[in-house]
Amino acid sequence: MTRSDLIFGAAGLALAAVLAPAHVAAQSATSSPASPEARAQATLERMQPEEKTVLTHGPLAMPLMGPLELPADAVVGAGYIAGIARLGVPSLRETDASLGVSWVMGARGDGATALPSGLAMASSWNPGLLGEGGAMIGSEARAKGFNVLLAGGTNLMRDPRNGRTFEYFSEDPLLSGVLVGNAIAGIQSNHIISTIKHFALNGQETGRKFADVRISDAAARESDLLAFQIGLEIGNPGAVMCAYNRVLGHQACSSDYLLNTVLKRDWGYKGFVMSDWGAVPGLDAALNGLDQQSGEQLDPAVFFADKLAAAAKADPRYARRLDDMNRRILWAIYANGLDAHSATPGQPIDFAANGAVALETAKQGIVLLRNEGDVLPLARSAKSIAVIGGYADTGVLSGAGSSQVQGEGGPAASIPMGGEGPFAAFITQQFQRSVPLKAIREMAPEARVRYANGRYISDAVNLAREAEIVIVFATKWATEGADQPDLTLPEGQDALIAAVSAANPRTIVVLETGNPVIMPWLDKTAAVLEAWYPGARGADAIASVLFGETNPSGHLPITFPASEADLPRPKVDGFATLDPNFAGDPPTPDTRLSVNYDIEGSDLGYRWNAREGKKALFPFGYGLSYSRFAAGGLASDGATARFHVTNTGARAGADVAQVYLVSRNGKARQRLVGFARVELAPGESREVSVTIDPRLLADWNGKGWTIARGTYAFALGEDAEHLGEPVTVALSARSWKD
Ligand code: BGC
Repeated sequence: MTRSDLIFGAAGLALAAVLAPAHVAAQSATSSPASPEARAQATLERMQPEEKTVLTHGPLAMPLMGPLELPADAVVGAGYIAGIARLGVPSLRETDASLGVSWVMGARGDGATALPSGLAMASSWNPGLLGEGGAMIGSEARAKGFNVLLAGGTNLMRDPRNGRTFEYFSEDPLLSGVLVGNAIAGIQSNHIISTIKHFALNGQETGRKFADVRISDAAARESDLLAFQIGLEIGNPGAVMCAYNRVLGHQACSSDYLLNTVLKRDWGYKGFVMSDWGAVPGLDAALNGLDQQSGEQLDPAVFFADKLAAAAKADPRYARRLDDMNRRILWAIYANGLDAHSATPGQPIDFAANGAVALETAKQGIVLLRNEGDVLPLARSAKSIAVIGGYADTGVLSGAGSSQVQGEGGPAASIPMGGEGPFAAFITQQFQRSVPLKAIREMAPEARVRYANGRYISDAVNLAREAEIVIVFATKWATEGADQPDLTLPEGQDALIAAVSAANPRTIVVLETGNPVIMPWLDKTAAVLEAWYPGARGADAIASVLFGETNPSGHLPITFPASEADLPRPKVDGFATLDPNFAGDPPTPDTRLSVNYDIEGSDLGYRWNAREGKKALFPFGYGLSYSRFAAGGLASDGATARFHVTNTGARAGADVAQVYLVSRNGKARQRLVGFARVELAPGESREVSVTIDPRLLADWNGKGWTIARGTYAFALGEDAEHLGEPVTVALSARSWKD
């Protein structure tokens, strides 16, 4: 039995049904003597006044600001919060962990298993697989001594040029919420705390510490906040990490609206809010709902130690909050069993087994975008192959910043990308040790496989002319801290692909990108695979798909726009005012920078295209297979949708069935309301049923949700643009509180 079977039930990988919130151990309100609530209260009552700020703040635990002086039980990672030994409260050892235990520039001296990027994971549309990945990361983190993982990146993709797009999951609240919830549940199955982050509306890196997001409450609740809400319900994370940006004029980590009103009051969240690193503007963030100051050297002052203690002495509002902060942190510790299951560094790790999880995730995450004349899969008896570009002789690309993961021995290559100051070490283009050229040679043992690095187009064209098949690897690096100027492939790669595919029509393009790209050369190519940043075993996964050992089943979790002109904003707001090469944050905040998310409101990505009548280059939900599938027989009462999926092709494979709301009372309104990844043998048919979350049909009314009375039309979609015959359902009006 695999870990995913244990956590998510035997159907986890085959039919990845949505893990409903009700199935998950809820944040139960019962307070039996041993409940986490009761234990937190009892420990709080035993605290001495001077112990009350121990858990509320802590330092950065990586050598970013000079040499480190950490307590003996700290582990080099992102952060450290001291424990209270007298009361049996463990210290909190924090590492970044969205894609694996992070590399922290090699400072810890050991490696970890890198899962593919968030976009790749999400392309599987497989919640069970995400759970298995989370469980794997959690087990490695535990073995290294960590007990708090900074994971669960849930920000929706409002702009495909966002530099952190690769870390996040999708542009859709249901898909992101379900996937992140399962990843978090997987992590926390190891008796450790996971965060969900960055709360909220952290949609761009440009001016990330000061950009002020403007959005109506209703649009936020129906989009970005809904993704977090679903993720919290399913994953039940012990902590929420608030974001860098401002929202409606207030820093997210000091936003009464986000933290007190939405998260704690409306959603009844019981865990704690930790700050992002360097995101705390002042002491009053405590009154606005922040519970813990992280990486405190990066803030203007350590607010949540002596200053907080003094405020609590003088002001009952701070005293009440200080107790509440402790209760929340202790609740998360006890609810996840951190005290009873201590994480001791130096435990053995089964890298072979964990690598298999990374491989399976990469295989399910690769999206086949084009396959003219079924040029793929390639025959393993191929005789001559030209491999061009993308450092395919070296490794596979990874995204940069705090989420960077490298295996034992570190990156295969690391190219500085500019920038100055302490963060420059993060801003490097790193390749993981999984080599496409080698994997292709292993798949086609009889072939003469020759490689050109693609720096000279003439050289690549000569090689392409002489080969039976050409595989061009194209990379687009992305990093935390900087957005992308546009959606082209950099460094002349668009021209390279155009020239090579003109020289040889059997040209297959493998993309390793952190964002959608536009493809001026598309019509000239035979096939295109989007492999994203494919992780520790990425090359094996790519070769496995190219040669048909794996039948591709990935579907896009983000729209690939036909052109940047189709996006809600022509450029990332504020982009032109910043040096795109900066490393870290600009010294002078541009406090005038505001970002208007009311342009698209809750209509991100495919919803925006549907509203504006635009067609994508490749729509949300799109993905080809070496087999063919037919979905039909849709029936819905508005609460569930039933249909059947059949594999009409000749190979076993998986389809991702998608159900969309397409209109309400005759007015176009598109929402993904359900999905299921279904594995089918050739000729096999399966009945599928998905539950429709009523919030996806409703409007936020200021206090809760309202379903308007009327006619709702649903359709099955191969993707967001290729929709079947709609089925209509009459629904009566209803409202409920969140
Ligand atoms: C990032 C967070 C990360 C933290 C700690 C910040 O710069 O925004 O995602 O968890 O650093 O490394």
